[in-house]
Amino acid sequence: MAAKNSKKSSKKGSTTTAKTKSTKKSEPVQAPVVEEADAEKIYAKRFERHLDELRWLYMELYNNSSMFAELCDNMERFFKERNQELKSMDSSRETSKDWYKQNDMLGMMFYIDNFAGNMKGVESKLDYIEQCNVNYVHLMPFLETPEGRSDGGYAVSDFRKVQENLGSMEDLESLTTACHKKGINVCMDFVMNHTSEDHEWAKRARQGDGEYMSRYFFFDNSYIPTLYEKTVPQVFPTTAPGNFTWLPDANHFVMTTFYPYQWDLNYKNPRVFNEMMYNFLYLANRGIDIVRIDAVPYIWKELNTPCRNLKQVHTIVRMMRMISEIVCPGVLLLGEVVMEPEKVVPYFGSVEKPECHMLYNVTTMATTWHSVATRDISLLKKQLDIVNSLPKDYVFLNYLRCHDDIGWGLDYDTLKMAGIEERAHKQYLNDYFQGYAGESNSRGELYNADPITGDARFCGTTASMCGIEKAGFEQNEAAMERAVRLDVMLHAYMFMQSGIPVLYSGDEVGQVNDYTYKENPNKAADSRYIHRGAMNWNLAENISKPGTVEEKLFHALSNLEKIRKAEKVFVTNADTWTIETKDRSVLSIVRAFEGEKIVGLFNFSEYDKTLYIDGEDGEFTELISGTKKRLNEISLPAYGYYYLKKNE
Ligand code: GLC
Repeated sequence: MAAKNSKKSSKKGSTTTAKTKSTKKSEPVQAPVVEEADAEKIYAKRFERHLDELRWLYMELYNNSSMFAELCDNMERFFKERNQELKSMDSSRETSKDWYKQNDMLGMMFYIDNFAGNMKGVESKLDYIEQCNVNYVHLMPFLETPEGRSDGGYAVSDFRKVQENLGSMEDLESLTTACHKKGINVCMDFVMNHTSEDHEWAKRARQGDGEYMSRYFFFDNSYIPTLYEKTVPQVFPTTAPGNFTWLPDANHFVMTTFYPYQWDLNYKNPRVFNEMMYNFLYLANRGIDIVRIDAVPYIWKELNTPCRNLKQVHTIVRMMRMISEIVCPGVLLLGEVVMEPEKVVPYFGSVEKPECHMLYNVTTMATTWHSVATRDISLLKKQLDIVNSLPKDYVFLNYLRCHDDIGWGLDYDTLKMAGIEERAHKQYLNDYFQGYAGESNSRGELYNADPITGDARFCGTTASMCGIEKAGFEQNEAAMERAVRLDVMLHAYMFMQSGIPVLYSGDEVGQVNDYTYKENPNKAADSRYIHRGAMNWNLAENISKPGTVEEKLFHALSNLEKIRKAEKVFVTNADTWTIETKDRSVLSIVRAFEGEKIVGLFNFSEYDKTLYIDGEDGEFTELISGTKKRLNEISLPAYGYYYLKKNE
């Protein structure tokens, strides 16, 4: 049955009118073989290129030349251990540095157990991943983590061991190799801010071993922790209040910015930095292409500061970038910086001294949902204009939903000018998406509602937030139609943004919220599990059954993905800008590259619109329907969208 489906649905999208030839593929699959003798020379050259700066930064931070020498020795050791295929891939990626900026890049993120049970299961589902046009998979945390104290795997107790139920390091290598054969890149989390309290270091620290205590932040009384609390905000104000945990058995406080079982590592200790770099290189050598640096702004702590985005964080990320450019230059760094835009952008570093290759476009994501709730794209347009004005080398990852909550980090200064006040607006958005306010069809739950600040974040799947859950429950066909339209329009808009789109697994078939987490005592307190449900493969089979919600969504997304692949204006470094539509609910994004141009129109409201757009004369072909249109008078249905390609 499944095989039949996949055959059938591989034809899906054939109705697209996009006729342009495929542009260059992102992955140079046939990499040249690097001979052993050449490898040494290549390494020496890379090392030479970065040595001065690396040593300078290391000494500035640690002033410890023997630890630096140890780092250098180990870098070479990891390079020697790196297998031939990966070395060849490094070399070809070094020569085509823009390999990940091509228009066929499409990501998907999933938890391995939710998606396919274990690593072997994922390997057996690679055809489905290809069918989704995905060539980059983010495997959510899979390293060893204590059950019930795992924070979704973000509390790692062993950086060199895969969770037993998911497989082994050999399975990981087998999976990355299989992915590479299909041109699929593999991303994993590198949780470097903290370890689990079950990590070997933490266990020894707990027993009072000073060498290991110095790898964390230990205090034998509350004086310093209290000082820190004065300036350090809280990440989980409700589920894990405070930034320190008292350990009665050890008679000490330990710093725990996240959950009490996630102990912050002390990067002032060069042993921590070195060992974590060895872990990073060890994992890179398993065939990982993209390393997501988890919670990166938090990795350096100083008293009397918010302990976020301190300048030493940038020193560390820059060193990490150089270390990877020396040992494994095919690997990309993806920074997880869930902050306002001014804080995010510095993580790209500068042209001469780059830090991360890619960053999440988090403010745009939150502003997108604000636009859904308000039917007003003014703030979103402003936000996109900011992103579009940044250097084109900066690659953002765009997404509608991920495994985390949505924090309402909007530009409240701008909203204030329109009379919208922060606290009331957050309340409105949370009410709206829970389905209590306005014309809402959304379903979902609050996350970390803080009774003191009144702040709360939000959890739910894309489909549930678009109304698919409610319409399904009420068996309301018209509402379902609308919900699917909104869901597809949001994806179409997300694909038009500057950068690389990433789908959350299940979104391609409209998977709704999963409330079963409430029955699991290890998960019940953390509402993020509402949108981390297991992939429903029975539903996924419907993608070949015309008329089903799954088929409609899958088919529509597939059409969009094929257009993206076929049209070179979708490369990440195309010119991208917004234009005025004179309608507050309709967003327009334009992309242009090498003389070609596509105008996207996106209606964020449930009303049909007629638009009179100035300055875009001439005829366009709408790429989904193939119809000819002009922008000086154009009608756009409720929650509709167009991809309009300028005719020659
Ligand atoms: C990141 C992860 C989040 C986790 C946190 C602590 O923000 O995305 O899921 O809770 O780091 O590791």
